[in-house]
Amino acid sequence: MTRRRRIYEGKAKVLFEGPEPGTLVQYFKDDATAFNNQKKGVITGKGVLNNRISEYLMSRLSEIGVPTHFMRRLNMREQLVREVEIIPIEVVVRNVAAGSLSRRFGIPEGTPLPRSIIEYYYKSDELNDPMVSEEHITAFGWAAPQDLDDMVALSLRVNDYLSGLFLGIGLKLVDFKLEFGRLWENEEMRIVLADEISPDNCRLWDVKTNEKLDKDRFRQDLGRVEEAYQEVARRLGILPEGGPSDVKGPKTIQ
Ligand code: TMP
Repeated sequence: MTRRRRIYEGKAKVLFEGPEPGTLVQYFKDDATAFNNQKKGVITGKGVLNNRISEYLMSRLSEIGVPTHFMRRLNMREQLVREVEIIPIEVVVRNVAAGSLSRRFGIPEGTPLPRSIIEYYYKSDELNDPMVSEEHITAFGWAAPQDLDDMVALSLRVNDYLSGLFLGIGLKLVDFKLEFGRLWENEEMRIVLADEISPDNCRLWDVKTNEKLDKDRFRQDLGRVEEAYQEVARRLGILPEGGPSDVKGPKTIQ
């Protein structure tokens, strides 16, 4: 890593000052945490894979008109992104019961939900990311009602598109978490997708076996964690098997 100004260090990524004003370099670490930092570990090669997976998914979403902070991948662990003002809300979209929803309501993991459910969490390590309602978000000024409308509309588009994309490679998109930021261009403000989309913040299950191919393998000590991330990248056709020239498109499973 070169000596650049470090803007922010999170649990899985570091943000550095970018080469031009209004840009940042997003560096992906191998560090993994769960349960708000209570469980810590390293998933070897995760940073490299998440950099690629997030590049791929953000690029596809951009092609269908979802605005994102992603500009381009720079190297194995870094991507160039637009500097945005992060909205301190995690938007979780759920299609199938799992994780905290299953625990909260006693619904067995794997139960399909009658419709996609959106939840909001306030990003605060000290408070352990509490779940909040639209009322809290607008009353406390974390996002304006119009911002929230945009975030919901974008989250549902992301869910529709990614559910289909993953189904095409034999994976069920159980749930995922998105983050958004404000991007100013001249006097105009737009809400754009930020952070990353990877097996760190999605639940992905094999369609046929329900095998978990995401960070739950780390959270629940299921083993074969690295292999799960590799498998997702392989199915997306972005795991360079014979070197960097061997990067293909996704293999559709019939
Ligand atoms: P949950 O069931 O633990 O609430 O998680 C829902 C989804 O959100 C799951 O795909 C994992 C993701 N997630 C994050 O990306 N970051 C977090 O801090 C948490 C709690 C969940």
